[in-house]
Amino acid sequence: MISGAVSLDLTLNGQPRSLDVDPRRRLSDVLRLDLGCEGVKVGCDAGDCGACTVLLDGEPVCACLVPAGRIGGCEIETVEGLARDGHLSRLQEAFLRKGAAQCGICTPGMLMAAEALLRRTPSPGIAEVEDALSGVLCRCTGYAKIVEAVCECAAALPPAIEAEAGAAVGARLDRLDGRPKVLGTDRFGADSWPAGTLLVRVLRSPHHHARFSFGDLDAFRRDNPGIRLVLTAADIPGRNLHGVIPPLADQPVFATNIARFKGEAVAAIVGERSVVEAFDPAAFPVAFEPLAPLLEPEAALAPDATPVHENRPDNVLVKGFVRRGEPEAALENADAVVEGSFSTGFVEHAYIEPEAGFARRVEGRIEVFACTQAPQMDREDLAAIMELPQEAIRIIPSSVGGGFGAKLDLSLQPYVALAAWLTNEPCGIVYSRGESMMSTTKRHPSRIVARIGAKSDGTLVGMTFDGVFNTGAYASWGPTVANRVPVHASGPYRMPAYQARATAVHTHTVPSGAFRGFGVPQSAVAQETLFDELADAVGMDRLAFRIRNALEAGDATVTGQSFSQGVGIRRCLEALLPDWEIRRKAAAAFNREGGVLRRGVGVAGMWYGCGNTSMSNPSTIRVGLKADGTLVLHQGAVDIGQGSNTVIAQICADALGLPVGRFTLLGADTDLTPDAGKTSASRQTFVTGAAALRAGRRLRERMLLRLNAGPQATLRLEGSTLLADGSAIDLAELAGEADAHGYVFAAEEMFDPPTTPLDANGQGEPYAAFGWGAHLAEIEVDLELGLLRVRDLVCAHDAGRAINPTLIEGQIEGGSAQGLGLALMEEFIPGRTENLHDYLIPTIGDVPRVRSILIEEPDAHGPYGAKGIGEQVLIPTAPAILNALRDATGIVIRDLPATPDKIHAALQRARTGGAR
Ligand code: FES
Ligand code: FES
Repeated sequence: MISGAVSLDLTLNGQPRSLDVDPRRRLSDVLRLDLGCEGVKVGCDAGDCGACTVLLDGEPVCACLVPAGRIGGCEIETVEGLARDGHLSRLQEAFLRKGAAQCGICTPGMLMAAEALLRRTPSPGIAEVEDALSGVLCRCTGYAKIVEAVCECAAALPPAIEAEAGAAVGARLDRLDGRPKVLGTDRFGADSWPAGTLLVRVLRSPHHHARFSFGDLDAFRRDNPGIRLVLTAADIPGRNLHGVIPPLADQPVFATNIARFKGEAVAAIVGERSVVEAFDPAAFPVAFEPLAPLLEPEAALAPDATPVHENRPDNVLVKGFVRRGEPEAALENADAVVEGSFSTGFVEHAYIEPEAGFARRVEGRIEVFACTQAPQMDREDLAAIMELPQEAIRIIPSSVGGGFGAKLDLSLQPYVALAAWLTNEPCGIVYSRGESMMSTTKRHPSRIVARIGAKSDGTLVGMTFDGVFNTGAYASWGPTVANRVPVHASGPYRMPAYQARATAVHTHTVPSGAFRGFGVPQSAVAQETLFDELADAVGMDRLAFRIRNALEAGDATVTGQSFSQGVGIRRCLEALLPDWEIRRKAAAAFNREGGVLRRGVGVAGMWYGCGNTSMSNPSTIRVGLKADGTLVLHQGAVDIGQGSNTVIAQICADALGLPVGRFTLLGADTDLTPDAGKTSASRQTFVTGAAALRAGRRLRERMLLRLNAGPQATLRLEGSTLLADGSAIDLAELAGEADAHGYVFAAEEMFDPPTTPLDANGQGEPYAAFGWGAHLAEIEVDLELGLLRVRDLVCAHDAGRAINPTLIEGQIEGGSAQGLGLALMEEFIPGRTENLHDYLIPTIGDVPRVRSILIEEPDAHGPYGAKGIGEQVLIPTAPAILNALRDATGIVIRDLPATPDKIHAALQRARTGGAR
């Protein structure tokens, strides 16, 4: 027996179990590591996220807070116990059917909390469900479909849709990868490691800016025999740098001598799990000498500021610029001009799955199984770091428990790869919640000044915009933000004269990177809230003002681009008109009653260019048919919960003309799937979907040619027989013709959206298509307390073609919840909010009802007209909420988040006649 261990008998999912265990260990760890229940997820180890929820004697508990010593004689139930004989429980079935699982990392915890409720209350109401699930966080769904699934699982569920050939696009199919998510068998980065995997632990700077030096590392190794390896920059065989934009790669795997942000890696230890877990980082021989940090762009831009990087002496990483017409003169001659200064802070992605994965050395190559949004980019960076050819690196993305942009950058991959390479044993890592929050990228904090003018009839005449974005210590996606923002800062409106600048500035803070919208949510706050003031200034209805100025087909954008089709903003705005009118009247009537509550209604519009800005971003899809009739889709677009595994298969199936259910999916794997690019910038449905469309059509052509059938023939696949109208081929007879992948028929097609570079004035065609949308928010605010509650959101989005409406609604509900967080509660402060109890994200009790209105204005490049949706859904929420607050109370908050204390202070100032 292990020293200090106790022997326990318990019942686990109905089966008697005995184990010897250290009574102080967390039940979550014991379930995962000792009892094989990896469906129990760990998001925080602190009782904040609820991902680890299990039933202990029938009651839901956070397993991370339960010491193993407490479970003797208890009955424990985990997600693994819900299905019987391979049949999903009704609750699991409901989650699948309703689209309640996106990334799926919160799903086991949600299911167990719901299971406890349903045993007590078989037909619960919404309030009971919200109450029962209030301890479990979900960052993807906005909770709406989870609540719906729990409420409706007592009723007869509709059967799963089995789309016929040609009927997959537009169908509300269950996620093709959904079953493992509701069973708890999906493999995330921390799951299914090889037995005996060594643990890696990264040692990080406790200071924002520090010089550091190591003590005697050889003596440390000698004195700590359980630690197999110590890694520092000196151990990196290749380039000690990585970065998502190769020419600007500047982030070291391990800092050398100088740490530039709190949480930067300086070294790592590798050893047996128990040794590494017990290691006290204070015992590591490293001495830090704190240096004065630059924490704000204002300080970093001061003429005498110390450069964060020697090669960027002014601390400016990059500047973006767009100019069209003569905005200064236009504003001078405008009938009304409004202006304002705005600020937003760091926003944390707060996915429930902290970064995790393992690597192993396989026959002279290195395999990395980890959460990522960008396997090909990981491979390129790792090859340079490891000084290996790219062919020697295999990236196998795990299921990703939420990404939202931060899992585009390398995080754990170099540490596990290096450790596995040097030890020749599998090596893994699971970031702690604090480590994840302090070391991975954030949404850029912004300082924005904007002026906008209009004629007295409400026609926009010009705008100037100046944004400074805190890009942190390293480049990450700072250039992308700086270049994207000026293109988008006008909003989706005709703006004849325009100038926008965006500057990404280095500071000694965690790198800012990609987060759903790449800076556009911040610029939309400025532009859309000023629009309300401008509409008021010219005496025009705020929604009518937007409709009047909305871009239409043939109009030039601020970069001079014009689309002859696919411009859906006007339809989105007009779709809000009925709610706008009814709800504003209702709010006014409510407010006339007096009391401490006021209601208000706000709207905001958005546009978002799908894919990279003025850069090639191709995707390739391969599809093939084997001699035994197996139809395989090589789908390399990483599904981080948004649904690409399903949507891309739907597109390819209809292009091919066979039922989507015939596909065997090969998920992203750099050895097995062609490069489908990164999952970012709302590009997977649009770009990879278009590649899937082409691949499906090409495969169909090849089959029909061989069958000697016409282009309209109906294809069928019966076992290993391929048929079209009157012709048939026994595929087995073609086995000798199989290609290198084993296919007797195959196609591989690429799509790269056409764009042109921007000139010195930012003129050009940066995107092949935009997504469009508009949100309406109805809020209620307590005048005494400053508490704001969003009652309802109505969200109209032009997705071009809704390939799977359930998945699009899920994006809208989840993205708008993140927008609500940006507006009202989320601000990451390095060193202060590095956990999920100080950093607040919307809970099930914070999110409003959301009504999605799907507009379909097809795009000529998109597959079946589809456009991206992932970033679009977050952008208008925050300004719509702020506009509703102003509508209700007259107060203006320009420093986000609009927390109750800020609202309260602004209300106080308004009451006492001070500045708003
Ligand atoms: S892991 Fe237990 S509550 Fe987060
Ligand atoms: S589905 Fe809930 S966190 Fe992703």
